[in-house]
Amino acid sequence: MAPKPEILAAFEAAKGFMPLDEGLALHAAAEEAGRLGLPLLEVGTYCGRSTILLADAARAAGTVAVTVDHHRGSEEQQPGWEYHDPSVVDDAPGVGRMDTLPTFRRTLYRAGLEEHVIAMVGRSPQAASVWRAPLGLVFIDGGHTDEHATSDYEGWAPHVAPDGLLVVHDVFPDPADGGQAPYRVYLRALASGAFTEVSVTHSLRVLRRTGLGI
Ligand SMILES: C[S@@+](CC[C@H](N)C(=O)[O-])C[C@H]1O[C@@H](n2cnc3c(N)ncnc32)[C@H](O)[C@@H]1O
Repeated sequence: MAPKPEILAAFEAAKGFMPLDEGLALHAAAEEAGRLGLPLLEVGTYCGRSTILLADAARAAGTVAVTVDHHRGSEEQQPGWEYHDPSVVDDAPGVGRMDTLPTFRRTLYRAGLEEHVIAMVGRSPQAASVWRAPLGLVFIDGGHTDEHATSDYEGWAPHVAPDGLLVVHDVFPDPADGGQAPYRVYLRALASGAFTEVSVTHSLRVLRRTGLGI
């Protein structure tokens, strides 16, 4: 079922990088994965745009969305880079660093979804190293270097339950369209034999766990 108009409005109003068609595909995947009754996990919260969709699906399924971010921004979001937004800098004396956590909290509050989300503030590999529970869905949209994308895959994909979904954002087979690290992770997941492709919506790839391992 497509998200209700108020959820779509909250998604469109939120700061972030996900276009609507990919958002609808993510929401559909989260709804389907929600049937497993397991948490839906996101790496890369930023200001909560995609979190809204996972939280809405989690609410419908009676589960929870878990979202991980250190809230200091990825490389390309730092001052002087292409995706920098000066309105999400903590300019308190002695800080001067990106801080998307307050904006994220406002996004969730305005969407009425606070109760359906657990936010983990920290580095994805550290969070993954202490995580023990099976997950219905893992959405990888954190750092886009090989180091970060690979550690997100290695840290979180093992927790995708049988029939659960692995979703990777910013998969660009053509280097002219964007960085290749998420594409390499996607290829690795397919080559592992553990995941089978379910859908392609622009740069968003949805895979299902159909085998063991990663
Ligand atoms: C592309 S943005 C996420 C966009 C968001 N999913 C959306 O749809 O609007 C990537 C986010 O990943 C976070 N990030 C990058 N590397 C990380 C790491 N190693 N651990 C935790 N968060 C990380 C950044 O702080 C940034 O907020």
